[in-house]
Amino acid sequence: MLTELKKVERQAISQAADLLAAGEVVAFPTETVYGLGADALNSAAVAKIFAAKGRPADNPLIVHLYQAEQAEALAYTNELFYTLAKAFWPGPLTLIVPKKDCVPAIVTAGLDSVALRVPAHPAARWLLQAGKMPLAAPSANSSGKPSPTLADHVYQDLQGKIPLILDGGAVNIGLESTVVSLVSSPPAILRPGKISYAELLPYLPNLLPPKALAAAEAPRSPGMKYTHYSPQGQVLLAAGGAVFLKAYRSLPKDKKLFIIATSQTAALLPQEAAPFVIAQTGDIQAYAHNIFAAFRSADAAGAELILTETVPVQNDDVSMAIMNRLNKAAGIGS
Ligand code: TXA
Ligand code: MG
Repeated sequence: MLTELKKVERQAISQAADLLAAGEVVAFPTETVYGLGADALNSAAVAKIFAAKGRPADNPLIVHLYQAEQAEALAYTNELFYTLAKAFWPGPLTLIVPKKDCVPAIVTAGLDSVALRVPAHPAARWLLQAGKMPLAAPSANSSGKPSPTLADHVYQDLQGKIPLILDGGAVNIGLESTVVSLVSSPPAILRPGKISYAELLPYLPNLLPPKALAAAEAPRSPGMKYTHYSPQGQVLLAAGGAVFLKAYRSLPKDKKLFIIATSQTAALLPQEAAPFVIAQTGDIQAYAHNIFAAFRSADAAGAELILTETVPVQNDDVSMAIMNRLNKAAGIGS
């Protein structure tokens, strides 16, 4: 199959809408990462998503909506759902709610709940409006690869497997949405993202605190058992500054190394370290934005060991989401 890569404009959106109506898949930008979409109510179309990604059938998809009210047709909602929708949509929050029968089992991997999100990216909104259908869409990477933050990442992974990639340039956030389960009691963050625990707490006073999450998380989100976000090389983590320098010095020098550090830490390293400077030290938005691209660069360089600087964790910013992805990449706690 020929994979077309097209800038987001009227003709490309209408071609994408036609493909979706014909039961095809299309990759498109969202504010978090690129998604691979198909008509959420068409099982055969959704099956093409799993096939293109090589995604295990027991990992359910997120259904993307143009507006929150479309949830009525697909799920059982309540006041809390709409309060959260009003506060955070369109935006990088996914809500898990009980599903209605019309949502095919393939979308939810047989679960009786469905994940819903109203994305904020203008191209995603344009496509959802033009397509006039809810779109089931996971991240548009091959299963097991880091999520794509550029159209070119999608092309690298899915070239020849999908008909069209809408190119909207670099995504804004760079990490996948915060996933909150409203079907578990108490409500829980299944996947941390840009919308933080502290931001959610005013709306969900009994939301499970992040520390409790690690111990309790396993059974609730099928996707969590897979090692996502892993580069080919082995990922090692170290805090910044002197700690990082020490970790660097202890690395075996006969291995192909790839060093990911923030600006201040990078300045401490010897020249031969040739670090990938991911962000200015302390700029965690930029760190989040660049981490998946950094891992892809490590792969492209054929790195065997990838020493990566960690970020200090706080409740009220994207740091928890970054550490969640770094720990997964390093095989810690997954
Ligand atoms: O930002 C994002 O969320 C991106 C963009 C494209 O919207 N999408 C994304 O989708 O990251 P995906 O499939 O890569 O991750 C969806 C996560 C998985 O961990 C999956 O297990 C979980 O959401 N999930 C989906 N439906 C669920 C459900 N009914 N119950 C529990 N977890 C669910
Ligand atoms: Mg994914």
